Amino acid sequence: MSVPCVRVPREDGEQTRQALADLDLIDGTHQIVHEEGTIYIPVAEPEQVPEGYDIEPRAVPRRETQTTPADLLDFDPSYERLGEVIIIDEDDPDRARELADAIAESDIPTKTVLNRASKIQGVERVRDWEVLVGEETEAVHREYGCEFALDLAAVYFSPRLATERHRVTQQVSEGEQAFDMFAGVGPFAIPFAKRGAEVVGVDINETAIEYLRKNASRNGVSERVTAIHGDVSKVAAEYEGWADRIVMNLPHSADEFLDSAVQIAGEECRLHYYDIQHEDDPFGPGERAIRAAAGDEYAVTVENRHTVRSYAPHEYNVVLDVRLQRR
Ligand SMILES: C[S@@+](CC[C@H](N)C(=O)[O-])C[C@H]1O[C@@H](n2cnc3c(N)ncnc32)[C@H](O)[C@@H]1O
Repeated sequence: MSVPCVRVPREDGEQTRQALADLDLIDGTHQIVHEEGTIYIPVAEPEQVPEGYDIEPRAVPRRETQTTPADLLDFDPSYERLGEVIIIDEDDPDRARELADAIAESDIPTKTVLNRASKIQGVERVRDWEVLVGEETEAVHREYGCEFALDLAAVYFSPRLATERHRVTQQVSEGEQAFDMFAGVGPFAIPFAKRGAEVVGVDINETAIEYLRKNASRNGVSERVTAIHGDVSKVAAEYEGWADRIVMNLPHSADEFLDSAVQIAGEECRLHYYDIQHEDDPFGPGERAIRAAAGDEYAVTVENRHTVRSYAPHEYNVVLDVRLQRR
């Protein structure tokens, strides 16, 4: 069976292996292979591999010493890892039990196995979980050199957005003032601060803000992160005209907060506006809402229209990168 591998010339092999290990991306269940001057390094989450690396599917041997859940099952299992918390999505209770037991028995480091028990719901965008193995719902997730502690039962978090967050983070420059209106546990705020930005993160979920503070400290950027618990539409007045960059990751209802975004925006401001829309017009509603909120106050230039991922049949999670310039 082929697995995704990073392909590098032999002389870059060790440096690349180290870089991928630091990002916790190496697939330890398969062997690194050397063939004719090229090294193939199996990776667990190819979508998180930084740009610039070549990824190729390759039939590399399994590590004899590692037992994977697939080795213990008669179906091809699908699961996500957040550190030692393993997430599954199984409707059939028998299949969920079988998969959870196989994960616990395998060599994957596992503290807890959680099955999705509801959709993401409510203002705080948290879902219910069925705890199948272990007890704790707190995980420590590593992403592009940052570490995030988070309690899945109390806060929103999706590892699937890692590549998108990295795309935006790469645009951040030292000294800029960035405002994350819906910050969660800090997956935008912390890497922004690591790049030298001064960051304000707001969230209505008090537990998320506690984690944002802890994560700022954990990643050595506390002095550049201000974490505020509250409704951003109320906090906005304190930061009028402040931001060089604004992140709005509250798909489905970000449009309701565009007046606050305009209030927070400085003379020239980049806005990253996340939305979920039908495939027929994925970017139009967001663009129209931004232009309406900016009115005559700001010139609006849409610099990038980007599809983040497919969300549901015929629906996409998209982002608009927008430049606002005060007229
Ligand atoms: C989709 S999550 C995004 C969290 C984070 N940016 C991330 O990528 O993981 C949206 C967040 O917005 C927060 N939220 C919802 N309404 C809010 C409001 N009026 N003011 C501040 N935060 C709000 C929720 O609690 C939730 O943590």
